[in-house]
Amino acid sequence: MKIKNICCIGAGYVGGPTMAVIAQKNPDIKVTVVDINAARIAAWNDKDLDKLPIYEPGLDKVVAEARNRNLFFSTDVDAAIEAADMIFISVNTPTKTYGQGKGMAADLKYIELCARQIAKVAKTDKIVVEKSTLPVRTAQAIKSILHNTGNGVKFQILSNPEFLAEGTAVQDLVAPDRVLIGGEQTKEGLEAIQALVDIYATWVPLENILTTNLWSSELSKLTANAFLAQRVSSINALSELCEVTGADVNEVAIAIGKDSRIGPKFLKASVGFGGSCFQKDILNLVYIAKSYGLNEVADYWEQVIIMNDYQKRRFGSKIIQTLYNTISGKKIAFLGWAFKKDTNDTRESAAIYVADQLMEEQANIAVYDPKVTAQQMQSDLNYLNTRPEDDNESQLTAEHDPYEACKDAHAVAVLTEWDEFKTYNWQKIYDEMKKPAFVFDGRGILDKSSLETIGFQVYAIGK
Ligand code: NAD
Ligand code: UGA
Repeated sequence: MKIKNICCIGAGYVGGPTMAVIAQKNPDIKVTVVDINAARIAAWNDKDLDKLPIYEPGLDKVVAEARNRNLFFSTDVDAAIEAADMIFISVNTPTKTYGQGKGMAADLKYIELCARQIAKVAKTDKIVVEKSTLPVRTAQAIKSILHNTGNGVKFQILSNPEFLAEGTAVQDLVAPDRVLIGGEQTKEGLEAIQALVDIYATWVPLENILTTNLWSSELSKLTANAFLAQRVSSINALSELCEVTGADVNEVAIAIGKDSRIGPKFLKASVGFGGSCFQKDILNLVYIAKSYGLNEVADYWEQVIIMNDYQKRRFGSKIIQTLYNTISGKKIAFLGWAFKKDTNDTRESAAIYVADQLMEEQANIAVYDPKVTAQQMQSDLNYLNTRPEDDNESQLTAEHDPYEACKDAHAVAVLTEWDEFKTYNWQKIYDEMKKPAFVFDGRGILDKSSLETIGFQVYAIGK
């Protein structure tokens, strides 16, 4: 079975870059990415590549090559579903904010809407691919909706979770550690798996394309994120012990990472992990374990989140304590608002929670982030809903210039590991700050001893 026409529902951080690379590598397949968010689709179609809705290094080049050749962005969801032989579902699956499983389970309403729409519109057989991250056994529910509400056409469901990380999405898609494809172990299921394998095989070596049953694939995605987040919480738990004992967390990370069984990656102590997925996916795993009555399993994974929340709070408290337990009316500069470098994504960024904690103490925050807009920062704070919007607006300002953000501040806090922060003229920043001048390095990226030579009092996580 050769796929000629792909539709992807959801033009977000996953749908956009993933389909751009599939289209780039398969010029003979027409790929249409659809979304109900018209502004987002307009931005994907903008001639000015700086206006793409997602900032990812290298993405503009991929889009420029494939767009309007075999890659299209549209709001006409029905037309794209009808024309496609393969449909990727790449919509958001946030944590539920209501009802049963509130605050834990994944909200699958967008997934169900997609399944119902596909069932209604499809007039020919389709392969439906779960690209979104989903609780194990969701394919069962999708299958039931498609078969019970469809027009009598045949559907095959595959699970093909995405492992890209933001900031390195293009690189991760072009050279993935592995591509995972789960499907039914029947003749038709195996044919559908093969059709998707063929698409990836145009650029991914076959030994890196793993095929499994549906449930292993769905569960592997949640597990991969849980293991990665667990490493961050593990090193963060050690960072506090380093601070009280005189050990240096970076040195400890190097020493343990040299053991090939542990490995060096994902051992960077930080103010806490953010991003749209780690917390959501672990909460989902905890919820699933609890729903099967596996309480010890649930408690084990929940601790990863508890540690992460503690780390964010601990960083904020350190700032308050060090500034003589009073920050009311004091200016504090934030370098970075995104949840990690090289992305404009701010979902669940530690910066939001630390800002909220400091603003509760009536501090004024001035933020510089190279890719995040002032509007986004306000919307992140308003989403937390802890204080009136007017207060958020008066207490937090966004600056276009980092030196302006730091001017007259009592302290600078590094919340994102943007490379450019290391290249600043820190002497100039020091000269223009209130004294004593403090730096709180929540990412451990600055050279502590040279800052101290300038005159700063420096707190670096894990040191
Ligand atoms: P996103 O919010 O950036 O994008 C989802 C898009 O789907 C939105 O633009 C929304 O308007 C659209 N949408 C929702 N319902 C729709 C419908 N019925 N019809 C058409 N469009 C609809 O989300 P994302 O970050 O791309 O994540 C998508 C999924 O991929 C999630 O399950 C997430 O867990 C998973 N994932 C994300 C990442 C990441 O780095 N962001 C990585 C791997 C997996
Ligand atoms: C993560 C996974 O790395 C991807 O494989 C997965 O596809 C994705 O989630 C997803 O499912 O959404 P992402 O959240 O984009 O990707 O970025 P990461 O590089 O994993 O970073 C997550 C958070 O952990 C960031 O806040 C980062 O700063 C923090 N982190 C990461 C640390 O604090 N220390 C580290 O050593 C590594």
